[in-house]
Order: sequence, then C-alpha cells, then structure tokens
Amino acid sequence: MAEGENKKIIYSAVQPSGNLTIGNYAGAIRNWVRLQEEYDCFYAIADLHAITVRQEPEKLRRHTLELAATYLACGLDPEKCALYVQSHVPQHAELCWVLNTLTYVGEASRMTQFKDKSAKHADNINMGLMDYPVLMAADILLYLADCVPVGVDQKQHVELARDIAIRFNNRYGETFRVPEPLIRRDGASIRSLQDPAKKMSKSDENPNAAVFLSDDRDTVLRKFRRAVTDSENSIRASEEKPGVSNLLSIYSAFAGCTVEEAEKTFEGRGYGEFKLAVGETVADVLAPIQAEQKRLLSDRRYLTEILKGGAERAYKASRKTLSKVYRKVGFFQGE
Ligand code: TRP
Repeated sequence: MAEGENKKIIYSAVQPSGNLTIGNYAGAIRNWVRLQEEYDCFYAIADLHAITVRQEPEKLRRHTLELAATYLACGLDPEKCALYVQSHVPQHAELCWVLNTLTYVGEASRMTQFKDKSAKHADNINMGLMDYPVLMAADILLYLADCVPVGVDQKQHVELARDIAIRFNNRYGETFRVPEPLIRRDGASIRSLQDPAKKMSKSDENPNAAVFLSDDRDTVLRKFRRAVTDSENSIRASEEKPGVSNLLSIYSAFAGCTVEEAEKTFEGRGYGEFKLAVGETVADVLAPIQAEQKRLLSDRRYLTEILKGGAERAYKASRKTLSKVYRKVGFFQGE
C-alpha cells in the first residue's frame, strides 16, 4: 500500500477577512500544525465564504495572500498538507449547487450564525449568507473528510453537513462520509481582554479587546497591561475571576504549560507583573511568526506556487467525488 493511503482526512478553512487574533492562532492554526503530522489534511482559504458579507476587492485579494503567508509562517507544511484557495477549485461551488437541492430553507434559516449575521448586516441579507453552511458542507464532503477541526461557533454547521451527507446517502446510495466535528479544547476559550464574557473577536469595536497576530511588541504589551482583572489581587483561575482566568489560559497556551502550572508560577505576584509576563510570552511567540510572514509576503512567486500546488491536489481529490455525485443524481456524462 502506498504511504498515506490509510490516513484519516481532515478538512478545515479560515476566511480571509483580515487580521487573525491570537485566539485563531492558539485555537485553530496551531492545532492544524499538529494534525498535519498524522492526517491527510486539506486547509483552505475560504474566499467564497468571505464574500457573503461585503468585501473590498483589493483588500480581499491582499488578505488572501496574507492568510496564505500566515498559514506557512505558523508551520503548515505544503509537503504535508494541501494549502489552497477555495475559489481555485470549482468543485466547491458545483457541489454546493447539488447540496442546495437537499437542504431545506427552514433548516438553513434556523442556523444561529445566519440569524446573527442577518441582524448585523441587516442591509445585506443575501442568498449567499443563507447558503453559507451548505457551501461549507460541500467543502467538507468533497474530500470525504473524517474530521473537521472547528471552534464551537461552527459546530452547528458541521452538524448540518452531517445531516446533508446522510440525506444524500439515503436518497442516492452510499456516497459521502459522515464527518465528525473536532472541537478544540485548548485555546478555544480565549476571551476578550476587555470583556471576558465575550469571545476574543477580530471585529470587536473596542481596540483593546483583541490581540492580533500582526500586533507589534509594544501593542501586545499595552493591550495586556489594559486587560480587565478584578480587585482581589490573587492569580488563580475560577469562575468568579473571568479576567484573570482568561489571562492564565492565554499564558498557558503560549508558554506551553497547564493552567495549574501557570498559577504556581505567578503565586503571590501582583497583577501588574503578571500582565507584563503574559504580554511578553505572547509577543515572544508572535515575533518569529511575523518575521517569517513578512519574508514570505515579499516572495509572491513562491506563495503563488504553493497555492497552485495545493489547488491541484485539492482538485484531484475532489473531482472524483463530484463526478460520482453527478452520476448518482442522474446527470448525463457521455456514453
Ligand atoms: N466557516 C468557517 C469559519 O468562519 C470557515 C470554513 C469554511 C470552514 N469552510 C469550512 C471550516 C469547512 C471548516 C470546514 O470559521
């Protein structure tokens, strides 16, 4: 048997909507880097998804290249996984069309993210926004993925992909593998530095709420200095101390230790010193990634080649599934 033939398949993607946060890094991309060692991984830049909200074309293009450079700078290895841009592989949109006919308007309009985004972009509730999870199902099902690493906010979409896969298989015969969501544990819980009741989000209005992968050292230190804590001055994780708990989990994610170990490290120290240490630890991890991203962005030819190679692999893998689907639904494909 050829090497790798029996490996399980992983699929995931991030939208090129600019500026990843340290939550995206610790919760998603870093985990992908570990997974590429054991699995057959497809990691996409979901530009088709991105245009479901308004994008400036030049920015979208720039963010796509930046995200590719970030993927590589974080340690994704194009030899080990397929890194590609979703719109480079036409099968995604093609399978989405077929899956649309197996998805009910009722179930699509009940998706939490659709409702949230409809409220947020009330002047642009377009068909693509509602179709978003069906396109995501197409992404996943095309590669017969076994596992889909996502944040909790995307779990409902993976469940819809499962329902659609089962429905297709029941109607047309065994075709798709039913994927499992892989909900990440560590890093999944990085919260806003200004309001730990909320997830750290790149679109937060408060500029001090999120730390971006692109933030320079001074900015990182300043944001952590301003992070909310409490009036107790004791460094331990507990539900009544959401600010301190969040800082402890960020520290543990970036220092590579457990929260208990982090508590021991900072026992008896003051909040000022603690926040500085968290900031420095994060900044130290980001510095080499930023340097590598910058280097890669100055070599567009190389980035283009990597993405081209990734798209070729994705194209080959997904073409088989799509032609099987076309045959099963009854499309004439020649004698
Ligand atoms: N919707 C995902 C997000 O915003 C990105 C995404 C697109 C994705 N297609 C996917 C994630 C397929 C997992 C699998 O986070």
